[in-house]
Parts: sequence; structure tokens; C-alpha cells
Amino acid sequence: MKTFLSSTSIVAGAALFTVLSAVVANADDASPKLKAKSFIIPEIVAHRGASHAAPENTLPSFELAWKEGADAIEGDFYLTKDGKIICTHDKTTERLTGGADNRVVADSTFDELRQLDVGSWKGEQFKGVRMPSLDEVLATIPEGKKLLIEIKCGPEIVPALKATVKDWPAEQLRIISFNADVIAACRRELPAIKAFWLTGYKETAKGNGQWSPTFGSVMETLHRTKASGLDSNAHETVDETLVKKLRAANLEFHVWTVDDPAVAKRFADLGVDSITTNRPQWLRQQLSAATETNSESVAAPTN
Ligand code: G3P
Ligand code: CA
Repeated sequence: MKTFLSSTSIVAGAALFTVLSAVVANADDASPKLKAKSFIIPEIVAHRGASHAAPENTLPSFELAWKEGADAIEGDFYLTKDGKIICTHDKTTERLTGGADNRVVADSTFDELRQLDVGSWKGEQFKGVRMPSLDEVLATIPEGKKLLIEIKCGPEIVPALKATVKDWPAEQLRIISFNADVIAACRRELPAIKAFWLTGYKETAKGNGQWSPTFGSVMETLHRTKASGLDSNAHETVDETLVKKLRAANLEFHVWTVDDPAVAKRFADLGVDSITTNRPQWLRQQLSAATETNSESVAAPTN
């Protein structure tokens, strides 16, 4: 028994030495294959629904996103002139009606907006599709899935929003907005619902490599609004420095809108909480394939 144990220990020790040697030897290996990090696939959010294939911000687009296995859907919302909440992206109706109509969403009533065909521009099969209400979008959410409600207007929407979501579990809802006042108002009035401030990095002058907002001003806005985290464009400037600042402040970190697997992989490596994409199923498949490649890469040096 003693002999067995000691020979087992020798074998185990030798195996451990081999593994450790391989790890140390490969720490400086320039091969990108061996340097690949394993990562967890973040939550996949369907941008305006599965808007690669169906008309954005419509029920067919949201339903397709659920079929494609999205963890969450994202939709854009305005307060109408008569105090209802409608789902559409632009300030006016021109683009989604193919120029057939051009009215300002916030100056129109819900019924006026409901008469518009916002499906035909995407394909004949979507002819007659209407803008949905927030209630209708909420009703599509399967158990355990989430809706990211992007507020495209100002804080005047908050009372109607509060009334509409009052019976929904906060865990299934997220509020996002570029408007910092909206985030501050939602955190005050709907504290159980997480709210993320949206921002997009832009160069301060063409080609100067100076990006705005700075990380400092991002953090200041997040603190001032009491945001639950940041949802930014998937910009090259976002790196570990910012992610560390966010994590140290106990804030979430999300990105939009990523249809490129290499970019998605970079943000997954950074540990992003969710990736918003127009192609939820396809992007998840691409990331799954990348995680499998990584597992093989990690196993390779020990063979
Ligand atoms: O998810 C955030 C993203 O949707 C913001 O950009 O213009 O598509 O609403 P936009
Ligand atoms: Ca949006």
C-alpha cells in the first residue's frame, strides 16, 4: 500500500510538473492560439429585436429574437402626444415608412402612429406591421428573459413608464438612455429597476486620437445619476482600465451594437455583462465556436 501510494505520488508529481512546465513555457509563447483566454459568453441582447431579419422595433422582430434564443431584447420608446408609450427609434416617421409619412413622433397621438405601416420597408412579407406599445412588447417576454427599455425622449415619460411596468418583476426589466436626466429620474422613481447610462465615444477632432467622453467624465455621470452601470458603443478605446474602474465602483458594463465576432470576442474577454447585436443567434454561435477553440488551445500544451 505504502509502495502504491508513493509511486502514485511520484506519477502525480511528475504530471503536475509537466503541466506547470507547459504553463510557464507557454506564458511567453507568441502564438495567439496558446495565448487565447477562455471566456464566458455574455448575455446576448437583440438590438431592436432580431433586426437583421425583421423590421426593427416591431413584434415580429421581438418574437424572432426570442426564437433565436436571445437572453434579452432591446427596444426604443417615446412618449406620444396623448401620454402613451410607443416603440420606435427615430424622432420622425420618415425612414420607417419609406418616406410615405413624415411626422414627429412626440407630437403625434398613439392612434395616428398606429396607422403607419412600419414593416414594408424591410420586405413585402412584413407589410402592414405596426409600431407596438410598451405593453405589447412587455407581453412577449418569456419567463427568465429581459427587456431593455431605451428611453428616446426625456424624463417626461417616467410617470407613464412607472404606471406601465408596475406589475412586472424588476429583474426582467432594464432601462437605458443617452439622456442622463432620464437615468437619474428612473433611479429615483423606479429604484428596483436597473438603469444603465448609454454613451458613444467620438473623436474630439478627426484623427487626433482623443476620445470623448473621457473615462473620468463617464464615471462622474454614472455616480451623479446613480446609474447601475454603463452601456457604451463597442469602441476601441474601451479597455481594461475602464472595466477595472467600473468593477471597482460595483457597476455593470454592457456594449452595443456588435455584429462582428472578433469584436464580440474582445469584449467577452474584457468580461462585459452583455453584448447587444442585430443577429442574436448567429453571434452566439460564433462565440460558442470561439470558446470551443479556446478550450482546445488551453488543453494543447499538456499533451
Ligand atoms: O442598445 C443601445 C443602442 O440601441 C443605442 O443606439 O441608436 O440603436 O438606439 P441606437
Ligand atoms: Ca436603441
